[in-house]
Amino acid sequence: MRAKLKLQWFLVPLILTLYLSGFFLYKTAPVQVIAVRTTSHTTQASISFAPLRHVTKSLAELDKMDEISKNFLFFNHVPKCGSEVLILLLQKMQGFNNFRHVRLKGGSKRKLNRLQQEELVEEFYDILRKQPVRLSFDRHTYFVNFTSFDKQSPTYINLIRDPIDKIVSRSPGKNGKGSNEYYYKCLMKKKGDCNFKNGLSYDLSIPYFCGQDSRCMILNNDWALKTAKENVQRYFEVVGVLEELNSTLEVLENKLPNFFKGVQKHYQTYLLSNFKNKKPIKVPNRIRKKLKDTLRTEYDFYDWIKGRLFGQLQILYGDHQSH
Ligand SMILES: *[C@@H]1O[C@H](CO)[C@@H](O)[C@H](O)[C@H]1NC(C)=O
Ligand SMILES: *[C@@H]1O[C@H](CO)[C@@H](O)[C@H](O)[C@H]1NC(C)=O
Repeated sequence: MRAKLKLQWFLVPLILTLYLSGFFLYKTAPVQVIAVRTTSHTTQASISFAPLRHVTKSLAELDKMDEISKNFLFFNHVPKCGSEVLILLLQKMQGFNNFRHVRLKGGSKRKLNRLQQEELVEEFYDILRKQPVRLSFDRHTYFVNFTSFDKQSPTYINLIRDPIDKIVSRSPGKNGKGSNEYYYKCLMKKKGDCNFKNGLSYDLSIPYFCGQDSRCMILNNDWALKTAKENVQRYFEVVGVLEELNSTLEVLENKLPNFFKGVQKHYQTYLLSNFKNKKPIKVPNRIRKKLKDTLRTEYDFYDWIKGRLFGQLQILYGDHQSH
């Protein structure tokens, strides 16, 4: 009697398992139907993204026009230039504009050797193969020439800011040795380790556009400046300026609507109030003047980028603005 009862109890989990698995099978059937539907939907979607197929072609198969893909962006941001705003906006816009934003790791290393560059290019392409949608990526790194790895280049975008504000925003703190006054004095000194010296290497803005050649980091190197400008013209659809964020967003929205459609409205509605109260950094004029000479090529580049941005804006408006 007792043995029989035990057996019956033994059957309970077994029956329960059978019941549940039946339930599960029953449940999964409609899911499979949905999956089929999703697949056909995805197929439809990938038809509208037809140009994406170019991405996997080797460069030899491509037209000259296709050297740069319109379907993936790379925001290789410069530190201390307000990239957080643009990353936040990319993350917000992905839902509206049907793309995906990917934050790449490893941004503490910006100057990459040939192997590391190749790894980065591979990382891009691994993700591109897996994702049947447009993609944008961000990471700190000096410009990488995808063409030199026989791969189609992403459309680069970037954001820079006034070189002095960028440097001062790095100043270590508020008190004692870390105070701004101390930092300014130190910047002005001939000797010491926080002033800038011609011919030495620095992690300023130009290398992010010039690339991985050691000369790119050298302060006031004219070859680096020239190369940076050439690369901007060839690979960077838009380089924004933090002090001109409205214009930057306007150009981004017009030049790259697949990613930035609606960005100005979104920024003004949800983010503007957060940034409005940020006061510009006050730097004494004598320091500004001195640093402007010291950072000759950085200022040349900054002014040139600003001119390019306003030029792009003017083209968008036709010439009615100039009257
Ligand atoms: C990028 O690589 C291609 C192919 O090697 C080369 O023609 C081009 O000059 C390179 N651009 C830069 C800026 O190095
Ligand atoms: C940007 O545009 C917004 C909305 O039109 C305005 O409130 C804001 O002052 C502008 N910012 C700048 C720096 O022009």
